[in-house]
Amino acid sequence: MKRIRIEGGHKLTGTIQISGAKNSAVALVPASLLSDEIVKIDNIPNISDIDALNEILMYLGAKVTRDGNMMEIDSSSIINKEIPEAISAKLRASYYFMSSLLGKYKHVEMYFPGGCSIGARPIDQTLKGYRALGARVVEEGNKYTIDADELIGSEVYLDMPSVGATVNTILVAVKAKGETVIENAAKEPEIVNVATFLNNMGAKITGAGTSTIHITGVDYLGSCFTEVIPDRIETGTYMIAGALMGENLRIENIIPEHVDSLIGKLKEMGVSIKEERDAVTISATEKLNHVNVKTLGYPGFPTDLQQPLTALLTQCSGESVLEETLYENRFKNIPYLNEMGANITIDEKKIHVIGPTKLVGREVSATDLRAGACLVLAGLKAEGETIVNNVEHVLRGYENIIEKFTQVGAKIELEEI
Ligand code: EPU
Repeated sequence: MKRIRIEGGHKLTGTIQISGAKNSAVALVPASLLSDEIVKIDNIPNISDIDALNEILMYLGAKVTRDGNMMEIDSSSIINKEIPEAISAKLRASYYFMSSLLGKYKHVEMYFPGGCSIGARPIDQTLKGYRALGARVVEEGNKYTIDADELIGSEVYLDMPSVGATVNTILVAVKAKGETVIENAAKEPEIVNVATFLNNMGAKITGAGTSTIHITGVDYLGSCFTEVIPDRIETGTYMIAGALMGENLRIENIIPEHVDSLIGKLKEMGVSIKEERDAVTISATEKLNHVNVKTLGYPGFPTDLQQPLTALLTQCSGESVLEETLYENRFKNIPYLNEMGANITIDEKKIHVIGPTKLVGREVSATDLRAGACLVLAGLKAEGETIVNNVEHVLRGYENIIEKFTQVGAKIELEEI
């Protein structure tokens, strides 16, 4: 097990560089399989989720070269074989392979994907997209066998703007015959990144970033180069760290527009933020106002930032109310925050946070990626020593988190026990 040990109370000052977005990169890597030539992707974060996808690429016989944050993928000689459950269960994004393989070979055998245990996370909308394009889906327990004689463009209305179902439907439609229209598509920036990547290969996708996406199928996808966009959730996590402990903490290589909803909330609290074209500078403020937050799809407040934000809500004066509308089980950080001195009650989909409360170091556990990020943030603020156990979850999604915090003055170490 890996754990993080933090000595709290140190000011954070200096500059943090944001890495490529996990949730873009984990879609771009499987999408690369659709090309019959070599593709290059830059700004890939070095996180364990990418290692897990790399394992699937190698298993299928792709030739992969990684050099720093650059990844070169040659899928011209892959073999479309069943992807074992042991690898597909490592992460949610493994199901992007299901769509790329189906889109390319019209046949795939794979298992239900893994991912953080934050709710049921069904894949019905993805399967609805496959079926709409003419595929037959056979489910046997956790296993899916999916075939199509031909994939034919169709209209797909998503019951909710799911990121995964939007990306999966794009992946399966890019080489289908005719036009596919996705209605009620998710609008997350990561989807635009995936569509741009595929268009660079020769796909014909318009409307990514809006609720209606049009895809006209093409026969061939060739070589291309793309860059992963900056990670808006990592950006937000370090911005919250800045609001807790920053002294002119500068966060660089970001797209401020992608974190508008967080900037809005921080300003409502009274946090001092200086915005530039691709950076923000944040300092902690003595007295913070309480706020209400509701998670929504982009451009609403991201569910992936609600747990990190909760560490800051404990420092706001009065009662803040946070409502999680996407996942049923994304409050596992709360009992640990309360052990550290927070005053938070859970009321079904909402939490009520009464502050400010002094946080004190404790031994806690990362139950999932963003819960872990929340506890690291709380540890940076807390008096004394905090130990966060099971930080494998955190390392899945934050590149060089120890180095980045250390560079700006935190006392934080990774331990293997
Ligand atoms: N949903 C369904 N059926 C589906 C698909 C989704 O009911 O077929 C529901 C889900 O249960 C959930 C909601 O729709 O309540 C949103 O799910 P979505 O499909 O948008 O999420 P996802 O694609 O599984 C991605 C990110 C998550 C992030 C969400 C929302 C990846 C690999 N994961 O998940 O990231 O929370 O979008 O923005 O891109 C994280 O990074 O910590 C993380 C969990």
